[in-house]
Amino acid sequence: MKDLDTIVPLVKVAMPAREKLMPALEKVLYGGFIAEGEPVYEFERQFAAKFELGEILATSSGTGALHIALLLAGAGHEKEVISTSMTAEPTNTAILQTGAIPVFADVDPDTGNLDPASVKRAINDKTAAIVVVHYAGYPADMKQLRELADASGIQLVEDCAHALGARYADQPIGTWGDSAIFSFQAIKHMTTIDGGALVLHDKSQMERARRLRWFGLSKGVARTEVNITEGGYKYNMNNVAATIGLMQLSNLDEMIQSHKQNGQFFDSAFEPVAGIKPAKILAGTEPSYWIYTLLTDCSKDVIRCLNDNGVAASKLHRPNHLHSVFACPKTSLGGVEQFYDKLVHIPCGWWVDAVARDKIAELLKKG
Ligand SMILES: Cc1ncc(COP(=O)(O)O)c(C=O)c1O
Repeated sequence: MKDLDTIVPLVKVAMPAREKLMPALEKVLYGGFIAEGEPVYEFERQFAAKFELGEILATSSGTGALHIALLLAGAGHEKEVISTSMTAEPTNTAILQTGAIPVFADVDPDTGNLDPASVKRAINDKTAAIVVVHYAGYPADMKQLRELADASGIQLVEDCAHALGARYADQPIGTWGDSAIFSFQAIKHMTTIDGGALVLHDKSQMERARRLRWFGLSKGVARTEVNITEGGYKYNMNNVAATIGLMQLSNLDEMIQSHKQNGQFFDSAFEPVAGIKPAKILAGTEPSYWIYTLLTDCSKDVIRCLNDNGVAASKLHRPNHLHSVFACPKTSLGGVEQFYDKLVHIPCGWWVDAVARDKIAELLKKG
Protein backbone atom coordinates (compact mmCIF):
# COMPACT_ATOMS: atom_id res chain seq x y z
CA MET A 1 0.00 0.00 0.00
CA LYS A 2 1.21 3.50 -0.84
CA ASP A 3 1.97 5.98 1.92
CA LEU A 4 -1.00 8.38 1.83
CA ASP A 5 1.35 11.34 2.40
CA THR A 6 3.10 10.67 -0.89
CA ILE A 7 -0.08 10.50 -2.97
CA VAL A 8 -1.32 13.59 -4.80
CA PRO A 9 -5.01 13.50 -3.85
CA LEU A 10 -7.79 14.36 -6.29
CA VAL A 11 -9.49 16.62 -3.75
CA LYS A 12 -8.30 18.09 -0.47
CA VAL A 13 -9.81 19.98 2.47
CA ALA A 14 -8.59 23.60 2.64
CA MET A 15 -8.54 25.14 6.12
CA PRO A 16 -7.41 28.64 7.09
CA ALA A 17 -4.18 28.86 9.10
CA ARG A 18 -4.60 27.45 12.62
CA GLU A 19 -3.34 30.64 14.32
CA LYS A 20 -6.05 32.68 12.59
CA LEU A 21 -8.90 30.20 12.75
CA MET A 22 -8.60 28.89 16.31
CA PRO A 23 -8.99 32.22 18.18
CA ALA A 24 -12.00 33.09 16.00
CA LEU A 25 -13.56 29.67 16.55
CA GLU A 26 -12.95 29.76 20.28
CA LYS A 27 -14.63 33.15 20.45
CA VAL A 28 -17.75 31.98 18.66
CA LEU A 29 -17.94 28.56 20.33
CA TYR A 30 -17.86 30.00 23.84
CA GLY A 31 -19.57 33.29 23.04
CA GLY A 32 -23.08 32.03 23.75
CA PHE A 33 -24.42 32.51 20.21
CA ILE A 34 -23.72 29.53 18.00
CA ALA A 35 -26.94 29.39 15.95
CA GLU A 36 -27.83 31.78 13.08
CA GLY A 37 -26.77 35.31 13.91
CA GLU A 38 -24.48 38.19 13.00
CA PRO A 39 -21.51 36.08 11.74
CA VAL A 40 -23.90 34.43 9.26
CA TYR A 41 -25.15 37.80 8.01
CA GLU A 42 -21.60 39.15 7.82
CA PHE A 43 -20.56 36.07 5.82
CA GLU A 44 -23.51 36.64 3.47
CA ARG A 45 -22.47 40.25 2.89
CA GLN A 46 -18.80 39.47 2.32
CA PHE A 47 -19.37 36.43 0.10
CA ALA A 48 -21.93 38.27 -2.04
CA ALA A 49 -19.63 41.28 -2.44
CA LYS A 50 -16.61 39.15 -3.34
CA PHE A 51 -18.42 37.26 -6.08
CA GLU A 52 -20.61 40.18 -7.28
CA LEU A 53 -23.82 38.34 -6.37
CA GLY A 54 -25.86 41.20 -4.92
CA GLU A 55 -27.46 39.49 -1.96
CA ILE A 56 -27.31 35.87 -0.88
CA LEU A 57 -28.75 33.56 1.76
CA ALA A 58 -26.28 31.32 3.55
CA THR A 59 -27.56 27.79 4.09
CA SER A 60 -26.58 24.60 5.89
CA SER A 61 -25.71 22.91 2.58
CA GLY A 62 -25.71 23.36 -1.17
CA THR A 63 -28.49 20.76 -1.33
CA GLY A 64 -30.66 22.84 1.00
CA ALA A 65 -30.05 25.93 -1.13
CA LEU A 66 -30.93 23.97 -4.28
CA HIS A 67 -34.12 22.61 -2.71
CA ILE A 68 -35.25 26.17 -1.93
CA ALA A 69 -34.23 27.41 -5.41
CA LEU A 70 -36.26 24.64 -7.04
CA LEU A 71 -39.34 25.32 -4.90
CA LEU A 72 -39.13 29.02 -5.82
CA ALA A 73 -38.84 28.00 -9.48
CA GLY A 74 -42.17 26.18 -9.20
CA ALA A 75 -40.88 22.59 -9.06
CA GLY A 76 -43.29 20.19 -7.36
CA HIS A 77 -45.68 17.31 -7.99
CA GLU A 78 -46.66 16.78 -11.62
CA LYS A 79 -43.79 19.01 -12.73
CA GLU A 80 -40.58 18.16 -14.51
CA VAL A 81 -37.14 19.68 -14.09
CA ILE A 82 -34.65 19.31 -16.93
CA SER A 83 -31.28 18.37 -15.53
CA THR A 84 -27.98 16.71 -16.29
CA SER A 85 -26.92 13.17 -15.51
CA MET A 86 -23.26 14.25 -15.37
CA THR A 87 -23.16 15.63 -11.86
CA ALA A 88 -23.02 14.71 -8.19
CA GLU A 89 -26.27 13.08 -7.10
CA PRO A 90 -27.58 15.94 -4.89
CA THR A 91 -28.32 17.99 -8.02
CA ASN A 92 -30.98 15.45 -8.86
CA THR A 93 -32.05 14.17 -5.44
CA ALA A 94 -32.97 17.81 -4.65
CA ILE A 95 -35.38 17.68 -7.61
CA LEU A 96 -36.96 14.52 -6.19
CA GLN A 97 -37.31 16.27 -2.82
CA THR A 98 -39.71 18.77 -4.41
CA GLY A 99 -41.88 15.98 -5.84
CA ALA A 100 -40.87 16.85 -9.42
CA ILE A 101 -39.33 14.41 -11.89
CA PRO A 102 -35.78 14.97 -13.14
CA VAL A 103 -35.69 14.71 -16.93
CA PHE A 104 -32.17 14.16 -18.19
CA ALA A 105 -31.08 16.13 -21.23
CA ASP A 106 -27.88 15.06 -22.96
CA VAL A 107 -24.48 16.71 -22.57
CA ASP A 108 -21.89 17.95 -25.02
CA PRO A 109 -19.38 15.05 -25.11
CA ASP A 110 -16.48 17.54 -25.23
CA THR A 111 -17.46 19.42 -22.06
CA GLY A 112 -19.75 17.17 -20.01
CA ASN A 113 -22.14 20.13 -19.70
CA LEU A 114 -25.77 20.35 -20.84
CA ASP A 115 -26.29 20.51 -24.59
CA PRO A 116 -28.81 23.32 -25.23
CA ALA A 117 -30.27 21.51 -28.29
CA SER A 118 -31.09 18.48 -26.13
CA VAL A 119 -32.54 20.72 -23.41
CA LYS A 120 -34.76 22.38 -26.00
CA ARG A 121 -36.18 19.01 -27.06
CA ALA A 122 -37.00 18.13 -23.44
CA ILE A 123 -39.06 21.27 -22.72
CA ASN A 124 -42.83 20.70 -22.46
CA ASP A 125 -45.87 22.01 -20.57
CA LYS A 126 -44.81 20.30 -17.37
CA THR A 127 -41.31 21.79 -17.30
CA ALA A 128 -40.80 24.08 -14.30
CA ALA A 129 -37.09 24.67 -14.58
CA ILE A 130 -33.73 23.80 -16.07
CA VAL A 131 -30.92 23.00 -13.64
CA VAL A 132 -27.53 23.61 -15.17
CA VAL A 133 -24.33 22.35 -13.54
CA HIS A 134 -20.94 23.85 -14.38
CA TYR A 135 -19.42 20.42 -14.16
CA ALA A 136 -15.97 20.20 -12.50
CA GLY A 137 -15.78 24.01 -12.64
CA TYR A 138 -16.13 24.47 -16.43
CA PRO A 139 -18.89 26.98 -17.31
CA ALA A 140 -21.83 25.65 -19.32
CA ASP A 141 -23.36 27.44 -22.31
CA MET A 142 -25.26 30.04 -20.32
CA LYS A 143 -26.18 32.35 -23.22
CA GLN A 144 -28.07 29.65 -25.05
CA LEU A 145 -29.65 28.20 -21.93
CA ARG A 146 -30.70 31.68 -20.79
CA GLU A 147 -32.32 32.31 -24.17
CA LEU A 148 -34.12 28.96 -24.04
CA ALA A 149 -35.43 29.56 -20.54
CA ASP A 150 -36.63 33.07 -21.44
CA ALA A 151 -38.28 31.90 -24.65
CA SER A 152 -40.14 29.14 -22.79
CA GLY A 153 -41.00 31.11 -19.65
CA ILE A 154 -39.23 28.65 -17.38
CA GLN A 155 -36.65 29.25 -14.70
CA LEU A 156 -32.93 28.63 -15.02
CA VAL A 157 -31.24 27.37 -11.86
CA GLU A 158 -27.43 27.36 -11.76
CA ASP A 159 -25.76 24.65 -9.69
CA CYS A 160 -22.35 26.26 -9.12
CA ALA A 161 -21.19 23.73 -6.52
CA HIS A 162 -18.05 22.98 -8.56
CA ALA A 163 -17.50 26.40 -10.04
CA LEU A 164 -16.77 29.02 -7.39
CA GLY A 165 -14.70 31.74 -9.05
CA ALA A 166 -15.50 30.71 -12.64
CA ARG A 167 -16.63 33.36 -15.14
CA TYR A 168 -18.80 33.43 -18.25
CA ALA A 169 -18.68 36.39 -20.66
CA ASP A 170 -16.89 38.39 -17.98
CA GLN A 171 -19.67 37.83 -15.47
CA PRO A 172 -19.24 35.66 -12.40
CA ILE A 173 -20.86 32.26 -12.51
CA GLY A 174 -24.05 32.41 -10.47
CA THR A 175 -25.27 35.65 -12.07
CA TRP A 176 -26.84 34.09 -15.18
CA GLY A 177 -29.60 32.02 -13.64
CA ASP A 178 -32.89 33.11 -12.07
CA SER A 179 -31.25 31.50 -9.09
CA ALA A 180 -27.93 29.87 -8.29
CA ILE A 181 -26.44 27.79 -5.53
CA PHE A 182 -22.94 27.22 -4.16
CA SER A 183 -21.70 24.44 -1.88
CA PHE A 184 -19.19 24.81 0.95
CA GLN A 185 -19.04 21.08 1.65
CA ALA A 186 -15.75 19.57 2.82
CA ILE A 187 -13.87 19.25 -0.46
CA LYS A 188 -15.06 22.21 -2.49
CA HIS A 189 -12.90 25.25 -3.42
CA MET A 190 -13.99 26.67 -0.09
CA THR A 191 -15.45 24.82 2.88
CA THR A 192 -17.41 25.78 5.99
CA ILE A 193 -17.43 22.02 6.91
CA ASP A 194 -20.92 21.97 5.42
CA GLY A 195 -22.73 24.95 4.02
CA GLY A 196 -24.13 26.58 0.96
CA ALA A 197 -25.37 29.80 -0.58
CA LEU A 198 -28.52 30.70 -2.46
CA VAL A 199 -28.51 33.53 -5.01
CA LEU A 200 -31.83 34.92 -6.28
CA HIS A 201 -32.13 37.22 -9.26
CA ASP A 202 -35.62 38.37 -8.27
CA LYS A 203 -35.02 39.95 -4.88
CA SER A 204 -38.76 40.01 -4.16
CA GLN A 205 -38.45 36.25 -3.53
CA MET A 206 -35.90 36.78 -0.78
CA GLU A 207 -38.35 36.90 2.11
CA ARG A 208 -40.07 33.66 1.07
CA ALA A 209 -36.67 32.02 0.64
CA ARG A 210 -35.67 33.20 4.11
CA ARG A 211 -38.81 31.64 5.60
CA LEU A 212 -38.26 28.38 3.68
CA ARG A 213 -34.73 28.31 5.11
CA TRP A 214 -36.07 28.27 8.69
CA PHE A 215 -39.21 26.16 9.12
CA GLY A 216 -41.44 28.80 7.50
CA LEU A 217 -40.84 31.16 10.41
CA SER A 218 -39.78 34.80 10.11
CA LYS A 219 -36.76 35.91 12.08
CA GLY A 220 -37.36 38.93 14.27
CA VAL A 221 -41.06 38.15 14.92
CA ALA A 222 -41.90 36.85 18.39
CA ARG A 223 -42.29 33.06 18.30
CA THR A 224 -45.60 33.38 20.14
CA GLU A 225 -46.99 35.70 17.49
CA VAL A 226 -45.57 34.39 14.24
CA ASN A 227 -47.88 32.54 11.83
CA ILE A 228 -46.45 29.90 9.49
CA THR A 229 -48.21 30.03 6.13
CA GLU A 230 -45.90 27.66 4.25
CA GLY A 231 -43.89 24.87 5.82
CA GLY A 232 -40.15 25.39 5.58
CA TYR A 233 -36.97 23.50 6.46
CA LYS A 234 -33.96 23.60 8.75
CA TYR A 235 -31.54 24.93 6.14
CA ASN A 236 -29.99 27.92 7.91
CA MET A 237 -26.25 28.30 8.36
CA ASN A 238 -24.93 28.55 11.94
CA ASN A 239 -22.44 31.04 13.39
CA VAL A 240 -19.67 28.44 13.71
CA ALA A 241 -19.80 27.52 10.01
CA ALA A 242 -20.06 31.22 9.12
CA THR A 243 -16.96 32.02 11.21
CA ILE A 244 -15.00 29.42 9.28
CA GLY A 245 -16.43 30.89 6.06
CA LEU A 246 -15.34 34.41 6.99
CA MET A 247 -11.80 33.17 7.71
CA GLN A 248 -11.76 31.30 4.39
CA LEU A 249 -12.66 34.42 2.42
CA SER A 250 -9.40 36.12 3.34
CA ASN A 251 -7.21 33.76 1.32
CA LEU A 252 -9.74 32.40 -1.14
CA ASP A 253 -8.47 34.46 -4.10
CA GLU A 254 -5.08 32.82 -3.80
CA MET A 255 -6.60 29.36 -3.56
CA ILE A 256 -8.90 29.76 -6.56
CA GLN A 257 -6.02 31.29 -8.49
CA SER A 258 -3.88 28.20 -7.96
CA HIS A 259 -6.70 25.95 -9.27
CA LYS A 260 -6.84 28.20 -12.34
CA GLN A 261 -3.09 28.34 -12.86
CA ASN A 262 -2.71 24.57 -12.59
CA GLY A 263 -5.69 24.05 -14.91
CA GLN A 264 -4.24 26.42 -17.52
CA PHE A 265 -0.86 24.71 -17.19
CA PHE A 266 -2.46 21.33 -17.95
CA ASP A 267 -4.47 22.81 -20.85
CA SER A 268 -1.22 23.88 -22.55
CA ALA A 269 0.72 20.78 -21.55
CA PHE A 270 -1.87 18.32 -22.89
CA GLU A 271 -2.91 20.16 -26.06
CA PRO A 272 -0.08 18.68 -28.18
CA VAL A 273 -0.19 15.20 -26.59
CA ALA A 274 -1.57 12.51 -28.89
CA GLY A 275 -4.39 10.39 -27.42
CA ILE A 276 -5.51 12.81 -24.70
CA LYS A 277 -7.32 16.11 -24.93
CA PRO A 278 -8.38 18.66 -22.35
CA ALA A 279 -12.14 19.17 -21.87
CA LYS A 280 -13.34 21.93 -24.20
CA ILE A 281 -13.54 25.40 -22.73
CA LEU A 282 -16.27 27.56 -24.23
CA ALA A 283 -15.13 30.83 -25.77
CA GLY A 284 -15.35 33.73 -23.34
CA THR A 285 -15.40 31.52 -20.26
CA GLU A 286 -12.92 31.09 -17.44
CA PRO A 287 -13.18 27.76 -15.62
CA SER A 288 -12.22 27.55 -11.96
CA TYR A 289 -10.98 23.95 -12.39
CA TRP A 290 -12.29 22.40 -9.17
CA ILE A 291 -10.84 19.21 -10.65
CA TYR A 292 -9.19 18.94 -14.04
CA THR A 293 -11.05 17.08 -16.80
CA LEU A 294 -9.25 15.31 -19.63
CA LEU A 295 -10.66 13.01 -22.26
CA THR A 296 -9.00 9.95 -23.73
CA ASP A 297 -9.94 6.72 -25.50
CA CYS A 298 -7.92 4.80 -22.90
CA SER A 299 -9.31 6.31 -19.71
CA LYS A 300 -8.90 3.12 -17.67
CA ASP A 301 -5.20 2.83 -18.60
CA VAL A 302 -4.56 6.50 -17.88
CA ILE A 303 -6.23 6.21 -14.46
CA ARG A 304 -4.21 3.06 -13.69
CA CYS A 305 -0.93 4.66 -14.79
CA LEU A 306 -1.52 7.76 -12.62
CA ASN A 307 -2.70 5.72 -9.60
CA ASP A 308 0.33 3.42 -9.90
CA ASN A 309 2.57 6.49 -9.81
CA GLY A 310 1.04 8.10 -6.74
CA VAL A 311 -1.48 10.43 -8.40
CA ALA A 312 -5.17 10.04 -7.58
CA ALA A 313 -7.28 10.09 -10.75
CA SER A 314 -10.79 8.81 -11.36
CA LYS A 315 -14.15 9.40 -13.00
CA LEU A 316 -15.44 10.58 -9.59
CA HIS A 317 -19.21 10.41 -10.25
CA ARG A 318 -21.59 7.87 -11.75
CA PRO A 319 -23.90 9.21 -14.46
CA ASN A 320 -27.02 9.85 -12.41
CA HIS A 321 -29.53 8.41 -14.87
CA LEU A 322 -28.08 4.97 -14.04
CA HIS A 323 -29.36 5.19 -10.46
CA SER A 324 -32.64 3.31 -10.21
CA VAL A 325 -34.09 6.02 -7.95
CA PHE A 326 -34.36 8.26 -11.00
CA ALA A 327 -36.25 5.47 -12.78
CA CYS A 328 -34.66 5.98 -16.15
CA PRO A 329 -31.65 3.64 -16.46
CA LYS A 330 -32.65 2.92 -20.06
CA THR A 331 -32.59 6.57 -21.08
CA SER A 332 -30.27 6.89 -24.04
CA LEU A 333 -27.81 9.73 -23.56
CA GLY A 334 -25.16 9.34 -26.23
CA GLY A 335 -23.24 12.47 -25.19
CA VAL A 336 -23.08 11.34 -21.54
CA GLU A 337 -21.92 7.85 -22.57
CA GLN A 338 -19.19 9.24 -24.82
CA PHE A 339 -18.01 11.77 -22.24
CA TYR A 340 -18.03 9.25 -19.39
CA ASP A 341 -16.20 6.62 -21.39
CA LYS A 342 -13.35 9.06 -22.12
CA LEU A 343 -13.39 10.90 -18.79
CA VAL A 344 -10.42 11.14 -16.44
CA HIS A 345 -10.38 13.65 -13.57
CA ILE A 346 -6.96 14.61 -12.26
CA PRO A 347 -5.97 16.86 -9.34
CA CYS A 348 -5.29 20.53 -10.04
CA GLY A 349 -6.08 22.36 -6.81
CA TRP A 350 -3.88 24.48 -4.53
CA TRP A 351 -2.14 21.35 -3.17
CA VAL A 352 -0.72 20.47 -6.60
CA ASP A 353 2.66 22.18 -6.53
CA ALA A 354 5.04 22.70 -9.46
CA VAL A 355 6.78 19.36 -8.83
CA ALA A 356 3.50 17.43 -8.74
CA ARG A 357 2.08 19.08 -11.82
CA ASP A 358 5.31 18.50 -13.82
CA LYS A 359 5.22 14.87 -12.74
CA ILE A 360 1.57 14.50 -13.89
CA ALA A 361 2.34 16.18 -17.22
CA GLU A 362 5.41 13.98 -17.78
CA LEU A 363 3.51 10.77 -16.96
CA LEU A 364 0.81 11.61 -19.47
CA LYS A 365 3.25 12.75 -22.16
CA LYS A 366 5.07 9.40 -21.86
CA GLY A 367 1.70 7.76 -22.48
C1 LIG B 1 -22.77 19.45 -8.41
C2 LIG B 1 -23.20 19.44 -6.98
N1 LIG B 1 -24.40 19.94 -6.68
C3 LIG B 1 -24.84 20.01 -5.41
C4 LIG B 1 -24.08 19.53 -4.37
C5 LIG B 1 -24.63 19.56 -2.99
O1 LIG B 1 -23.88 20.33 -2.13
P1 LIG B 1 -23.79 19.99 -0.57
O2 LIG B 1 -22.94 18.78 -0.39
O3 LIG B 1 -23.21 21.23 0.01
O4 LIG B 1 -25.18 19.75 -0.10
C6 LIG B 1 -22.81 18.99 -4.63
C7 LIG B 1 -21.97 18.50 -3.53
O5 LIG B 1 -21.41 17.46 -3.50
C8 LIG B 1 -22.36 18.94 -5.97
O6 LIG B 1 -21.15 18.44 -6.27
